[in-house]
This record gives sequence, structure tokens and C-alpha cells, in this order.
Amino acid sequence: MNFHHTFVQSKVNHKQTLILLHGTGGDEHDLLSLGTFLAPHASLLGIRGKVKEGQANRFFRRLSEGVFDEADLLFRTRELSSFLDEVKDHYGLWDNEWIAVGYSNGANIAASMLLLEPAVLTSALLFRAMMPLTPPRLPDLKRHSVYLSSGREDPIVPHASSERLEETLRAAGADVTHDWQNAGHGVLQSEFTSAKTWLASHT
Ligand code: MLT
Repeated sequence: MNFHHTFVQSKVNHKQTLILLHGTGGDEHDLLSLGTFLAPHASLLGIRGKVKEGQANRFFRRLSEGVFDEADLLFRTRELSSFLDEVKDHYGLWDNEWIAVGYSNGANIAASMLLLEPAVLTSALLFRAMMPLTPPRLPDLKRHSVYLSSGREDPIVPHASSERLEETLRAAGADVTHDWQNAGHGVLQSEFTSAKTWLASHT
């Protein structure tokens, strides 16, 4: 179990685990209250990215803002996927739905897992995600649901990149909802409410 993480097991044996993936500079605790808000009965797994950019934790290296180190991204995606399989074994949770909730850098590694290691996740809620890489082949996402929430005024995530992610996920067969917000890179409280409604009707 080679990631710093925090695991809060469902008290009522609810068959959902939310995998909480922070943005640059966050840690495994950042999205716990969001997870409780989105799915109060689910188990929560907060994970800390292992890559350091100065003092900031990230899930993979980047060469500059929005320009990713693709070799590192591939490596980190496989590493995180193996860790999630270990967690499923360790806690005996193979029968759960595994739902990624990611913001910014965390959303991007979750998108990379959907494209490269689709069996690891059941669905995903991605806030401010972009197309992280071009997969060598289109994954089979016919049983996956994905919620994307993007900001019209986001200075970091280009519209075209979020749209390409949406199109790729749809081409792979995923059931995709893409909400555009009058917002920048920061997420509005109203987006969390929409995400909660989406989650209740898609899982
Ligand atoms: C990334 O590096 O994943 C994106 O540029 C978003 C960010 O974390 O700033």
C-alpha cells in the first residue's frame, strides 16, 4: 500500500467507494467533506499524489501548466491502478462500485485511468478535467458513467481539451454528462449539488 491515503469505511455496508483525488498542492484529506456530501453512506478513500512540484503534491509530473510528462503520466496511472486493486483486496471490496471524484490534476489522472485502465473504475466525477493523453486504443467504457464539470472562464484548462475528453469518452461508449459553468478553475458550490444529483441517478 504505497500511497499515503485515508480510508473511511461505510458504516452501513453501502456498496460504493469514492476515490478522492485532489488538485495540485492538495492531500488525501482535501475532498473528504465533498465525498460525504456527494454520497453520505459510501466508503471514502482519499489518496495523496506522490509527485512533488516544489512542496506541492501531484499525481504526475508536468513540463509546464497543461503540458504533461506523458511517460510519467503512464507510469503513475498504472501505479495508482495497482494500488486501487490492492485496496480492493485489502478491504475485501471487489463488489463495490468504485467512483473517482477528482479535481484538476486529480481529475486528469482519473481521466487517464478511464482511458488506460478502465476496469479499475465504475464511474467518475471530474471537475476541471482535460484530455490527459491519447490512448493507444479506445477503451471499452460501455458500462461507465462520467460526469464532467468545466469552467467557461477557466484559464488553465482549454475548452477544446475538455471537449476532446468528452468526445473520446463518448466514442468509447461511456454515458457522459458534461456541464459547463460560468466559472473559472475554482469550483462553485452549485456544481457539487449538480454532481450529487447526477450521482444519485447514475449509480
Ligand atoms: C494538471 O497539471 O493536471 C493541470 O494543469 C491542472 C493543474 O493541476 O493545475
